[in-house]
Parts: sequence; C-alpha cells; structure tokens
Amino acid sequence: MTSLTITTPDDWHLHFRDGDFLKETVPATSRCFRRAIVMPNLVPPVANASMAMEYKKRILSASPEGSDFEPLMTLYLTNDTTPQDIVDAKREGVIAVKLYPAGATTNSDAAVSDLSHLEPVFEAIAQEGLLLLVHGEVTDNEIDIFDREKMFIDRHLQDIVENFPELKVVFEHITTKDAVEFVLASSANVAATITPQHLLLNRNDLLVGGVQPHNYCLPVLKRNIHQLALQDAVVSGSPKFFLGTDSAPHEKHRKESACGCAGCYSAWSAIELYAQIFEQLDVLDKLEGFASHFGADFYGLERNTDTITLIKQEWQVPDEIILPNGNPIVPFFAGKTLNWKLES
Ligand code: DOR
Ligand code: ZN
Repeated sequence: MTSLTITTPDDWHLHFRDGDFLKETVPATSRCFRRAIVMPNLVPPVANASMAMEYKKRILSASPEGSDFEPLMTLYLTNDTTPQDIVDAKREGVIAVKLYPAGATTNSDAAVSDLSHLEPVFEAIAQEGLLLLVHGEVTDNEIDIFDREKMFIDRHLQDIVENFPELKVVFEHITTKDAVEFVLASSANVAATITPQHLLLNRNDLLVGGVQPHNYCLPVLKRNIHQLALQDAVVSGSPKFFLGTDSAPHEKHRKESACGCAGCYSAWSAIELYAQIFEQLDVLDKLEGFASHFGADFYGLERNTDTITLIKQEWQVPDEIILPNGNPIVPFFAGKTLNWKLES
C-alpha cells in the first residue's frame, strides 16, 4: 500500500496552552485534525463557561485562514465547582468536564482534593449530557508512580462508574493492562483514549541508556506488558478505544532540566505516529475507526465528512521547532524517521 485515505480524524485530548503558544499549537493540530478536545489546565484553570468561551475565541483567532478547525471546550473541575457551573457550561457549548486529582500533573494544583464532595456535580454532568474526562492516577506519596493508574481504578473509578451508570466517562491516556481490562469490562458508557507515545514506547525508552526527558509524560510510560496490552486494544478494533494524542508542549529548557516537565509535543507528527504503529501491528485498516469514527460516535457528534490522505514516504521529525517567542521545543520523536506522511 502506498497511500491511505481516511475520514478526517479528530484529536480527543490535547493541550494548546495559551498566549504565544497558540500560534504554534493550533496550526500544528489543525494540519490534520478537524476537531480537538482542548484540555483546561491553564493557569488559572478554565473553571467556568465564560473562561472556556474566551479561551475558545483565542484559539479560533490563532487558527489558519480558511481553516474549519473546531476546538471543543472543556471545564476544569475544582473543589468549588457547583452543579450550576455545569448547567451554565452546557448552555454555552462546553461539551466535557475534566477531572484531575490534585497534584497529578502540569498545572493541577487547583484540582479536586476529595472526590466524595463531587457527587452532585457528577449528577449534573450526567443530567446535562456532558462527558466526564478523567486523568486516572492517585497522587498519594506512598503509592509508587507505576501503580498510580491501577490504584485510581480500584479506589475511585470503579465507584464513579458504578454510582453514575448514566455518566459517559473517558478514561484519558490509559497506560496499563489494568485500564484496558477495566474499560472492556465496563458498560458502553466507558471508553478510553490512547496516546502515540504509550503505543510506541515503554519505560525502557525513558530510562535505559540515560534519562530521556522528551519521552517523559504522565501517566508515565509503563513496562512492556502494558504497552502490549494497549497495542492489543487497538488491534482488537474495539470502538471503546480512540485517538487522543495528549500533545503537550513544554519549552526545551523546561524538559531538559533538573526537574523536567511532563508532556510530549506530538502535534506535528500525530497522525503519522499512529500510522507508524498501526502499520507495525499490521492493522492499518483499523486506523480510520480509531482516529476518525469511534471518538465522534462516543461523544455523540457527527463523524467528519471530508478525508485526509497519508502517503507512504519516509521523512524525519525535526530536531526542534521554534516558538513565536523564539524558544525551541523538541517535538516528540525528534530526529526519528516516520514512514507515512500527510499529503500536503
Ligand atoms: O504528560 C502530561 N502533560 N500529562 C498530562 O496529563 C498533562 C500534560 C501537560 O499539560 O503538560
Ligand atoms: Zn493531557
């Protein structure tokens, strides 16, 4: 096969940041995705409908001329979120609400410290027909970082899903066999996104031969049996698993640091990275469902009607990308060769 045409994909999980970053991140994503679920972990977080709508305007003004890119906005759950915030968010066009456990990742200090207070809010989310997007990791110091996702399932996610069966839940950027099994065993209201880095890499790629800060993200890469379980999930063609890059830019000096930030900036090669792994797994025919159909179906949105074409052609991911402020970012897979390229 030398070319592959699929329905235009959507990215169901990413980080655009704000200000100057938008001139870089929005064109990178709208290059191949028609819609994207935009994470709300700004400083301060996007915690109400008016902040979400203002943020949406800033994203749209950074979109390339003539682009029909559509940012899908989310709200950040805090200890102060009320059911009324959810009603207002729905009215303004917000489509999902993001749950970060406090301290879980970049800019999550404002997040929820006690999930039990959130029951009326979860009820409102279900009632309004919004989706709950979950960063599934506990943050207790005594829990090993490699066990945090499984512990979150056992301590929290199991209960949320049981107590709110009507609530649509996306378990974001899953990294473990336990998460795959949990999603498969749950009702049709539970699905998951999978990133390119968690399909392509395991924790050896983070730690063997020296620390590789550009492969550091959260949830952290796991051992290879977990990588294989994620690969099996996409090979199965189950509609419960769909594309979410978690593309998350951090300037080079913030990653190559004594206390490096978590996040892989994959937007410039996102669909090509997925094509690479789907080809390796010999399931290129399953790419379209994963990238372009299952997410829209789960969110209850129309599938896109236009198409993109990937060409079988080797190219190298650039070593660096320069931000509008002049600072470099090292993109995910920098300097590596990919076998598929989006037709320009
Ligand atoms: O690696 C990550 N980076 N994981 C997240 O959950 C957040 C993200 C970010 O915002 O940088
Ligand atoms: Zn994320």
